[in-house]
Amino acid sequence: MEIFDAITGRRSIRKFASKAVPKEVLLKILDAARWAPSACNRQLWEFVVVTDHDTKRQIADNACFKQKFLKEAPTLIVVFYDDTKERREESGPRKHDSIQSAAAAIQNMNLAAYALGIGSLWVCSIKNMMKLNKILRVPKRIRPVAIVALGYPRETPEAPPRRPLESLVHYEKFQQLQNSYPNSTDPRKWSLNELATFRGEICWYGGTIDPEFTLEKYNMESRAYQKLMAFFEEYDTPKSKVLDILPFGGGYLVGLLKRVEDPKRIHCFELSGSNVRFIRQNLKTFALSEPIFHVNRGNRLRIESEDVDLVTCFFRLEKLPDPEAMLAEIHRVLKDSGHVLLATELRGMGRLGHIVQTPKRKNLHTSRLWSTGPSVLFSKGEFFKMITLGNFKIIHQELYREDGWIKSIGKQIARSEGVTLLALLEKT
Ligand SMILES: Cc1cc2nc3c(=O)[nH]c(=O)nc-3n(C[C@H](O)[C@H](O)[C@H](O)COP(=O)(O)O)c2cc1C
Repeated sequence: MEIFDAITGRRSIRKFASKAVPKEVLLKILDAARWAPSACNRQLWEFVVVTDHDTKRQIADNACFKQKFLKEAPTLIVVFYDDTKERREESGPRKHDSIQSAAAAIQNMNLAAYALGIGSLWVCSIKNMMKLNKILRVPKRIRPVAIVALGYPRETPEAPPRRPLESLVHYEKFQQLQNSYPNSTDPRKWSLNELATFRGEICWYGGTIDPEFTLEKYNMESRAYQKLMAFFEEYDTPKSKVLDILPFGGGYLVGLLKRVEDPKRIHCFELSGSNVRFIRQNLKTFALSEPIFHVNRGNRLRIESEDVDLVTCFFRLEKLPDPEAMLAEIHRVLKDSGHVLLATELRGMGRLGHIVQTPKRKNLHTSRLWSTGPSVLFSKGEFFKMITLGNFKIIHQELYREDGWIKSIGKQIARSEGVTLLALLEKT
């Protein structure tokens, strides 16, 4: 196979046939890893090949977020790298030599597998590294880097989009992109136009970056997600007109679409056409028919829809420059008898954590919000005040903690995270 055909034709495969990967094919794939470059030619990588069903199940369930395809794939290659030397010697900024070397070996394996007709998936969502070491009896000093799932492909996915070359190559000096954003995690420092452009671009550049979307796609549904969907099932009726506010990657939207017979009674409001195109492409993966999309125009929020029975707004108000304006629009398009299903994470009780974190949180690029955009959590008081001033009242509410009480309170103090609030609103 031509090298460029392999580079562009290889896809991440997430559905595998049960047929085993023959030993001689597996050895060729592993041999390709051996020929990868490594820092100082140290070659401190180790590969554990796993085919035993029970071990694969243990890896998936205990160490890797229960990712289904790790159990399905007939062969897993768990890639480790001994970075003891690197950690001892590297005093300056870490260049992650060991990870770079392991990554080169992994990509060699992916390309070799593709050339041999074998599908592969590079999995780095390892939740618990030590558990993985323990399951495979690997000494602690050797760290897991990733898992390569291998098998005969049972799907031929379309290529996810790539950033155009001109947007990422800089000649001689770095060229600032035309659209630069306020590098702030505070949405109130953004204009609606800036936010619309950012959301429209970051969804593509990050591929399937939206964690919620990934959750739905790979069967890793979180508690929050299940709660929201149960809430939706309770308050939706077969003839309701539903409006989903800012679906972004489409994670929650997929959940809603799966729960209705007629997709056309679901309307979605997004800020840019580019974002809608991204959602459409992602929906194809689920073979779900499209809902009706509405795109905002200009620097003022305006939803081109009316007589809505049920609005779903899951973790979105806190991401807007002017959440009050969004509430006002929701109020305008909602029937007098309509309901709003709202979810938001409330700011934690510990201001200390917030103060300590402030310098980091000021910068979007170094914060954990880089892929989903600016967001500022409301305090309980701010949130309830906003709802009342928006002419809504809460008729049902539930507070819950994703991680259980102890962990959640620890998180609240350390990182100023709070509890999640689910609320059902009615017009006053
Ligand atoms: C370092 C790395 C880690 C990845 N981890 C995961 C993962 O945990 N789960 C998953 O489904 N895909 C994972 N992927 C696959 C990417 O989602 C995939 O490469 C990307 O969407 C582009 O699609 P393509 O590989 O088909 O071109 C990972 C890829 C890389 C390079």
